[in-house]
Amino acid sequence: MTQQVVNFNAGPAGLPRPVLERAQAEFLDFAGTGISVMEHSHRGKAYEKVHFEAIALTKELLGVPDTHAVLFVQGGASQCFATVPMNFLLPEQSADYVITGTWSKKALSEAKLIGQTKVAGTGDVEGNFIKIPKQSELKLDANAAYCHITSNNTIAGTQWHNFPNTGSVKLVADLSSDIMWKKIDVSKFGLIYAGAQKNIGPSGVTMVIVDKAWAAAASQKIPVIFRYQTHIENDSLYNTPPTFGIYMAKLVLDHLKETGGLDGAEKRNREKGRILYGAIDGSGGFYKCPVETDARSLMNVVFRLPSEALEEQFVKESEKLGMIGLKGHRSVGGCRASIYNAVTVEGVKQLADFMGEFARKNG
Ligand SMILES: Cc1ncc(COP(=O)(O)O)c(C=O)c1O
Repeated sequence: MTQQVVNFNAGPAGLPRPVLERAQAEFLDFAGTGISVMEHSHRGKAYEKVHFEAIALTKELLGVPDTHAVLFVQGGASQCFATVPMNFLLPEQSADYVITGTWSKKALSEAKLIGQTKVAGTGDVEGNFIKIPKQSELKLDANAAYCHITSNNTIAGTQWHNFPNTGSVKLVADLSSDIMWKKIDVSKFGLIYAGAQKNIGPSGVTMVIVDKAWAAAASQKIPVIFRYQTHIENDSLYNTPPTFGIYMAKLVLDHLKETGGLDGAEKRNREKGRILYGAIDGSGGFYKCPVETDARSLMNVVFRLPSEALEEQFVKESEKLGMIGLKGHRSVGGCRASIYNAVTVEGVKQLADFMGEFARKNG
């Protein structure tokens, strides 16, 4: 039997084991139809049921209000970097961007191709994205078309724990790496987008939750496929959707519901964070988290060891023990444990125990 792996990959990330087992069991014969779900027409009854259940489960779990639509689109979060300003940054307008890492910088670059932008705040401290700006530090434009934030910074390991108050300006957020980690008040957002491959399912599906009235008033001067309104009007069935990916997302959402919903997820995620940051802070300085304490991410825990050589050894030894994906992003180095919903409390305990042992041997 192969060794059970604890997957700390940043994305695509691990999926809950029971979800993979269910997909495996249904793979050749979906719902007694004699064929796989991915062989069904996206206009047929068997797939449609999956599709609308995935949307309904998202609404139920996140408490999405009737003012907002849940969409499944393609092109990843990267395409949303472009389609958000294409839809909502109209001529003569300017959009605010809060820059807290690599991904918000990319979102800003795309918006600059479309229209005017302003940087409303930054998480940069002497060249390192180690904080989340406080409300008092933001320079918000009261007339902005919208204000864009990245709720969790997958590479830097920072997370917004209180979303900014942007007044009457629509808040747009990239939740790619922390959607569904806990309940949020969706009514506060004009638009949320998230690539599925961390907390929702496999790559290839992007979830968008958008204010319907705002989408209806968006630009008509862009290709039909890029208009959020098109996907609202067609229930995300305008083009052939990534049916297998949406099916997998539906199984993940089913599993989330069965395991206590988002309150259950939050409880587990806080416990995992407590264990892992505890292992860092309790190591007598062997492990150091470069991020300001109140900005620490509960999804991507970044830490450094006393030397790069020790970091390399740490990654190698952890892999031998079946814990994979602990190397930090190549742009920042160090180590990173991505502890999305599918990583269990037991998996995190295993890592914390190993960290303690490694520090004792090499400290
Ligand atoms: C916060 C965040 N935004 C955007 C992206 C880019 O997502 P995609 O590859 O789906 O375009 C990532 C990828 O890791 C991410 O972590």
